[in-house]
Amino acid sequence: MILRQVPVGTFQNFAYIIGDEKSGLAAVVDPAWDVNRLLKICSQLGFKVRFGINTHSHHDHVEGNEELVRETGARIVAHTSSPVRKDVSVEDGDVLDISSLKARIIHTPGHCPDHICVLIDGKLLTGDTLFVGECGRTDLQGGNSRDMYDSLFNKIMKLDDVVEVYPGHDYGAKPSSTIGYERNHNYTLKKRSIEEFVQFMAEP
Ligand SMILES: [Fe+2]
Repeated sequence: MILRQVPVGTFQNFAYIIGDEKSGLAAVVDPAWDVNRLLKICSQLGFKVRFGINTHSHHDHVEGNEELVRETGARIVAHTSSPVRKDVSVEDGDVLDISSLKARIIHTPGHCPDHICVLIDGKLLTGDTLFVGECGRTDLQGGNSRDMYDSLFNKIMKLDDVVEVYPGHDYGAKPSSTIGYERNHNYTLKKRSIEEFVQFMAEP
């Protein structure tokens, strides 16, 4: 598997290319800002794009969906509750086959209701649920700190320390990390009760 992290746009977004070298098929995760450049990288790597996967429906992660579809015929994958036009609706626990690669979908509401993380070959694409050293905000429309608590502590933090973390924005001291690093260094993941966490997220 080849994973490419591509900085795009003006909000420090990361888009990702996940490619299967055997079949030459790939998925673009959060196609936005510079679809042209993403497609150029795909073709340099010899990949045909089969899917566009949205971690969530915020504009800065989906605004290239239709361009990607137009240029490649890719099918858009998003959570069932996502308002975007999609070809494949996914839910928690679903497995998406990107040729021989298996992408496990983890529903992680909190930043917004339709948020998913994608676990593939020991790598977790966390979108705006978890950043290096931070977690996503919950004060935007559809945000919910109780849901975020459940997503972070009962889903993401149940994963192995060695799982690599690839966030949706370049907000941290480094562009990627691991679950173990975040467990030990991310102040939003300190042991808190759900009430303490809700209070913590409400603080400025
Ligand atoms: Fe977002």
